[in-house]
Amino acid sequence: MIETKAFLESVEMTMLTAISEQTNEEQLAESMRYSVEAGGKRIRPLLLASTYALYQKNVSQAVCQVAAAVELVHTYSLIHDDLPAMDNDDLRRGKPTNHKVFGEALAILAGDGLLTLAFQVLGQAELADDKKVACLTLLAQTAGTLGMVAGQAADIEAEGKQLSLEQLQGIHARKTGELIRFSVIAGGIIGGASAKEQAQLDSFARKLGLAFQIKDDLLDVLATTEELGKTAHRDSVLQKSTYPQLLGIQKAKDELTKQVNEARSIVQDFAEKGYQTDALEAMMEKFTL
Ligand code: IPE
Ligand code: IPE
Ligand code: MG
Ligand code: MG
Ligand code: MG
Repeated sequence: MIETKAFLESVEMTMLTAISEQTNEEQLAESMRYSVEAGGKRIRPLLLASTYALYQKNVSQAVCQVAAAVELVHTYSLIHDDLPAMDNDDLRRGKPTNHKVFGEALAILAGDGLLTLAFQVLGQAELADDKKVACLTLLAQTAGTLGMVAGQAADIEAEGKQLSLEQLQGIHARKTGELIRFSVIAGGIIGGASAKEQAQLDSFARKLGLAFQIKDDLLDVLATTEELGKTAHRDSVLQKSTYPQLLGIQKAKDELTKQVNEARSIVQDFAEKGYQTDALEAMMEKFTL
């Protein structure tokens, strides 16, 4: 059982404590805290804990620490994503974007700070050395220049261009899919998944990661700014390549459903082997429209 509210409070406390203890520049700390406290859905921590719950009943301190690490990386990625040189957004998590409040220079540095702090939190996690090294390496790979950062570069490069579905999938898998993949596999690693199970979790996470960005693309078209807490219809203004832009809304919805159904069937495989899948099954709802 995961007590969602208590778990997310611990994750947030882990992030805020790390910011307070490890930053000696008050404005920098304030700007880092601002984006962390703005909240968000905390999908990545929840996925990590739900995957861990396949193997273990009670969430450990290490789960909170590793979940905090990925949420710190994700929050940095949003601050940088919103910068004028990238998506130039004014609203995030229902609040003015970091650079609107603190200025561009501090927003860039807050992102740098959150990214670096993530690795410190992970390095100090209460976890056996082999698991810790596996998580550290995986976070560097998935967040970095084969992962999220590469996807963001490809996303910017693709503005105004017509991409093939395969190219678009490659962007989505990296800019969004990779941190989702970290969350799922890290939950498995901490929980004690075998190498074979980690490979199954990997394939599950790839489907979820793609689904999550297809949903984000669809919501940009279908939802309102109030509902999203970020400005709707930005993708068409920025001439982004997205699933609805390339396939149309209905086919994009169909592709979302297909990815989530395939992910569900992998959860089902775990259930049939006797693993506790309740938490992961409940998470699947967050990936549909
Ligand atoms: C937004 O991520 C950017 C993407 C990678 C799609 P989330 O939708 O998880 O944003 P928050 O954390 O809830 O604000
Ligand atoms: C961002 O994708 C993915 C990140 C790595 C932050 P988007 O640019 O579509 O995210 P939103 O819509 O601004 O949240
Ligand atoms: Mg973007
Ligand atoms: Mg954006
Ligand atoms: Mg988007």
